[in-house]
Amino acid sequence: MARKLLLTHIDVPGIDTLEVYRRQGGYRAVEKALKTMSPDDVVEEVKKSGLRGRGGAGFPTGMKWSFLAKPDGVPRYLVCNGDESEPGTFKDRFLMTKIPHALIEGMIVSSYALGANTAYIYIRGEMMPQIRIVERAIAEAKSAGFLGKNILGSGYDLEVYVQPGGGAYICGEETALLESLEGKRGNPRIKPPFPAVAGLYGCPTVVNNVESIAATVPIVNDGGEEYAKIGIERSTGTKLISASGNLVRPGVYEIELGLPVEEFIYSDEYCGGIANGKRLKAMVAGGSSVPILPNNLATKTAKGEARLMTYESLADGGFVTGTAMGSGGFIAFDEDQCIVRNTLNFTRFYHHESCGQCSPCREGTGWMEKVLHKIEYGHGDIADIDLLWDIQRKIDGNTICPLGDASAWPVASAIRHFRDEFEWHILNPRESQTRNFGLAHY
Ligand code: NAI
Ligand code: SF4
Repeated sequence: MARKLLLTHIDVPGIDTLEVYRRQGGYRAVEKALKTMSPDDVVEEVKKSGLRGRGGAGFPTGMKWSFLAKPDGVPRYLVCNGDESEPGTFKDRFLMTKIPHALIEGMIVSSYALGANTAYIYIRGEMMPQIRIVERAIAEAKSAGFLGKNILGSGYDLEVYVQPGGGAYICGEETALLESLEGKRGNPRIKPPFPAVAGLYGCPTVVNNVESIAATVPIVNDGGEEYAKIGIERSTGTKLISASGNLVRPGVYEIELGLPVEEFIYSDEYCGGIANGKRLKAMVAGGSSVPILPNNLATKTAKGEARLMTYESLADGGFVTGTAMGSGGFIAFDEDQCIVRNTLNFTRFYHHESCGQCSPCREGTGWMEKVLHKIEYGHGDIADIDLLWDIQRKIDGNTICPLGDASAWPVASAIRHFRDEFEWHILNPRESQTRNFGLAHY
């Protein structure tokens, strides 16, 4: 059985309550950090752990924390990004629902490490049940003396507030989130300056994902070195994966980083294989914002080595041949799925969610949607495939925030790996809407 750090007690009845969470050893990390460690000690342990951001970018958490500016007399903030909206990603929602005190405990030790006395948990506005669950956990923690003034007699004060999200995917981009938290429209800011220097209300701010913050609890409890022993190379620790699509057992799994993709898909401990006895046609490992990989590259790299669930193995080959770990939104497509239709679906989403600040993203996502729609519904021309390729190239790398890049990568990889499917739609307009694709890529 794989080692679990975040979901160890997930099946204990009542684990969402403070009482049961404490009975399972909860809030030990707060006691240890506040009573026996300095804030810098906590930062040091997180650095040693090798923890990388679990929201998608994989930036080293300890390094991000050490970038936090500390001018005298200026408040610092910790903001938890719980605006989980990446298609195919639902692990933060799961964590907040099942074990909300893991997040609150992580908020306390992380805020202590950063010297923040005010912290916010920004939760996607549609997730009303999770907003209530987390608010209830905060109230419980406060009444037990883990929040508020002079926590556990340490002299450290912390208030944590929940902010419901603004109802747009782009509000999950960290600077758009800060704008939204300030009460403005959630438009991404140009970086630099990074939030670590000028974040919420212009003050130094760390924005971390729900899972990253919860991961600081086992790091403080067991030490960074112990955490770093799990995983492989620069991908240390455990990772929550949201598994969906044509799998026998979709759901949220905690894996040790370094697990072979093949084992994740086919073993009974995880997804149990492809549903209905079908074969895998393609997969994305990190939600809709990463390239799609055909079956022959899903479990093996281009060099024929086993593809592992790591930041490195899932990012090999760049945007056209590799995929990316992203937020761990693992989607499997079986042999009956149409790649053109799925690409159209993703592109429609990005077009709808573009905030409209940059022309390549605002216009390009719309053009890609129109061209894909034309092809999918049997009105395409062979030249449209190159047009589509050209549009995505003009978006990628030319926008303020990663939404532009994210809209380009699925299109690029779909053309690169499944060009024959695009051609089939164009050459067979009549069947285009009523087809069942066989396995063309293995
Ligand atoms: P990024 O690479 O720009 O930044 C990562 C983090 O490191 C940020 O917090 C940034 O402030 C910090 N950082 C980077 N360089 C820094 C420096 N020099 N100084 C100080 N701080 C620095 O990536 P970003 O835009 O934060 O995230 C993009 C990722 O988000 C994508 O890979 C995508 O997978 C993921 N994503 C996740 C979603 C979800 O629902 N979980 C939704 C949409 C995207
Ligand atoms: Fe807005 Fe798109 Fe530009 Fe991001 S890339 S700032 S979503 S227009």
